[in-house]
Amino acid sequence: MPQKKMLKLATTLLAPASAHGTWKNTPIENFIHQPLSAYQKLIQTAEEGKLDFVFQPDRYAMLASPTDITYKNNLWLEPITLLTALLPCTSRIGLAATASTIYNEPYHIARMFASIDHLSSGRAAWNVVSSRGDFENINFGKTDLLPEEERAAYTEEFLHVVKKLWDSWEDEAVILNKREGIFADATKLHVTNHQGDYFDIQGPLSISRPPQGHPVIIQAGVSEHFKERAAETADIIFTMLPTLDIAKTFYKDVKKRLVTYKRQHHELLIMPGAQIIVGNTVEEAYQKKKHYEEQTIHLQAMQSTGRHASFIGTPQTIADEMAQWLHEEGADGFIFIPTVLPEGLDDFVHKVVPVLQQRGVFKKDYMNATLRENLGLLRPRNTHLS
Ligand SMILES: Cc1cc2nc3c(=O)[nH]c(=O)nc-3n(C[C@H](O)[C@H](O)[C@H](O)COP(=O)(O)O)c2cc1C
Repeated sequence: MPQKKMLKLATTLLAPASAHGTWKNTPIENFIHQPLSAYQKLIQTAEEGKLDFVFQPDRYAMLASPTDITYKNNLWLEPITLLTALLPCTSRIGLAATASTIYNEPYHIARMFASIDHLSSGRAAWNVVSSRGDFENINFGKTDLLPEEERAAYTEEFLHVVKKLWDSWEDEAVILNKREGIFADATKLHVTNHQGDYFDIQGPLSISRPPQGHPVIIQAGVSEHFKERAAETADIIFTMLPTLDIAKTFYKDVKKRLVTYKRQHHELLIMPGAQIIVGNTVEEAYQKKKHYEEQTIHLQAMQSTGRHASFIGTPQTIADEMAQWLHEEGADGFIFIPTVLPEGLDDFVHKVVPVLQQRGVFKKDYMNATLRENLGLLRPRNTHLS
């Protein structure tokens, strides 16, 4: 019998609107003065709600100009460090960190994400970004940045090398036969020996193959070129789809591209961002939204960065809409972007998730050990063997 379609759900541990003023509504001081305990509470709430993963976006620069910081919150922590620190207080939820291909080397990325995957027994994901624009390179003294049109090819090669490095050791390479003193089977260790347009990397990696084979690969974008690249190489697309009609067109377009790469429909998950505001009545939810907007400086500027799907109403109306997106193929799931924290995440987990579970469109518990398995994604074959 075919398995019933279920939503995949994740949350960011950042409230981007707080950069524009809603920090006034929140106990922001906890995130600044006791960040470990404040973030621990968030991730534990997310795991209590059985969310598939937490997702930390990132930039390598402040978002506001120094003169803006009088009114705006522009503080956040580095995602890989943060998620690694949160690991011990979780056991099932996935951990997705953003890291740029422009400001890291493939060897850095391969070892950091392989390490998180081992430490979490297979719950790591990498959100691959290629840092557009000039506002970040000023922090690295880089004057020789690749032109925009070349960054996609650069990132493709970067990702290819990282996967080769993760595959340096075959799954069965480490033998640990103490009686005969045999640590590893040298025939199962692969030197990368990559010489391409952008990288010259010998390898191998000094870390055995990650439990998931490859940590889950997330890519964020919307453009034509992005869709093609993601269809070939991503496990999850994080994107901005403001309406169900736009989402259905995007979904169909991306999924049909999978055939070219001999991939099946379920091998790439489309998870648009979702802003969710919950009330006891629909009117109350819209009142809350209005209140947040009044707190928010330069809302227009915020929206001109694009618009995420928004679900505003009671737990029941929100669950109805989310289920509709799933059933009508607008999305495989959502990455929740709270407007205020911790309240927004508490509302989502304690009010909306139980309704989704009752309707049978979201799981009641984690069924598997690794993030890939929980998301229904295949464990990749070793690229040195295929
Ligand atoms: C929903 C969404 C979230 C993104 N998050 C980040 C991020 O956290 N950090 C970052 O550097 N770029 C981020 N990006 C930018 C993308 O990584 C990418 O550089 C950009 O979308 C270019 O892709 P395009 O070909 O679709 O224009 C995001 C893009 C989208 C659509």
